[in-house]
Amino acid sequence: MTILVTGGAGFIGANFLYWELREHPEDRLVCVDALTYAGNLRSLEKAMKAENFRFVKADICDRKAIFDLFEEEKPDIVVNFAAETHVDRSVENPGVFLQTNILGTQTLMDACRRYGTKRFHQVATDEVYGDLPLDRPDLFFTEETPIHASSPYSASKAGADLLVMAYARTFGLPVSITRCSNNYGPYQFPEKLIPLMISRAMSDQPLPVYGTGENVRDWLYVDDHCAAIDLVMRKGREGEVYNVGGHNERTNLEVVKTILRALDKPESLITFVKDRPGHDRRYAIDPEKIHRELGWLPQTAFDQGIQATIRWYLDNKGWWEEILAGDYQQYYQRMYGNR
Ligand SMILES: NC(=O)c1ccc[n+]([C@@H]2O[C@H](COP(=O)([O-])OP(=O)(O)OC[C@H]3O[C@@H](n4cnc5c(N)ncnc54)[C@H](O)[C@@H]3O)[C@@H](O)[C@H]2O)c1
Repeated sequence: MTILVTGGAGFIGANFLYWELREHPEDRLVCVDALTYAGNLRSLEKAMKAENFRFVKADICDRKAIFDLFEEEKPDIVVNFAAETHVDRSVENPGVFLQTNILGTQTLMDACRRYGTKRFHQVATDEVYGDLPLDRPDLFFTEETPIHASSPYSASKAGADLLVMAYARTFGLPVSITRCSNNYGPYQFPEKLIPLMISRAMSDQPLPVYGTGENVRDWLYVDDHCAAIDLVMRKGREGEVYNVGGHNERTNLEVVKTILRALDKPESLITFVKDRPGHDRRYAIDPEKIHRELGWLPQTAFDQGIQATIRWYLDNKGWWEEILAGDYQQYYQRMYGNR
């Protein structure tokens, strides 16, 4: 089988490619990524050595490039990770979020229709459901929870989900969607909470926490998310949405304190900063459907996953230091510029 993975030079996409190379070495993997600021080809260095792996630099909104690639590869499955993903950036500049997250998804689905792709899988987020109140720990997002996005990022992801379901209904496109809670693990860009705090704590810089740090996120180790996507795209029912989450709720402040303890750094590094506008209070997923239908359960407890993640950032200082120095964007040029 040929699996086309978009956004594979980003955090979850890269982890997913390694997951597939490990678990399904019989399949061919084609990674498409535009290498925006969030894409880092260095994350795929090891994958590049595999014979069944191909990297293509292309924008998912570039209809010609995408159709040409489909013509060449005729993928059996397409998994769409490519997206603008940082909520703060969507507050600054919403346009590119609508472009990539909605119109890029449309371009991919049009190509799937044309080339008879057997499954289009959309990697979505629990943020499309909006947020839950902090004083109702009994409430969780189910697949029936109405879409109620709060930020331009989540609205663009919600728009994409609606379009995916519309393509299924109108054109009979075989689709599936996973809506996952917050991920953490190796290769996450150091603007996101956990790697930001790890990298700053390691260099004794202040750790900026929004508001009072009480916002709650439902953290899932990235490999557990990869396992869920793999199951759904291969065995999940067509036209269905599956929520993915591990009942691992933590306030942002708890997460930051865990990181400081693990690195043996003082809590005095924490500085509270002005809250993000429209900041969602609590996300919490009910993953009962994917468990019941496909037997998925998370394998990594938070305490174990966070230790593994901190270890990875300690062992791969070069990876994130290069990002912070802005050098990583020269990497593609160095690797491929003269070929
Ligand atoms: N990180 C999370 O906690 C989380 C949770 C649930 C769902 N998701 C979803 O998972 C997907 C991946 O998230 P991530 O955290 O790995 O994101 P990321 O920002 O780390 O990576 C996104 C990747 O997409 C690429 N990209 C962006 N625009 C593109 C375009 N127009 N064409 C081709 N490639 C493009 C970037 O270069 C980058 O490699 C996203 O769709 C996101 O909404 C993320």
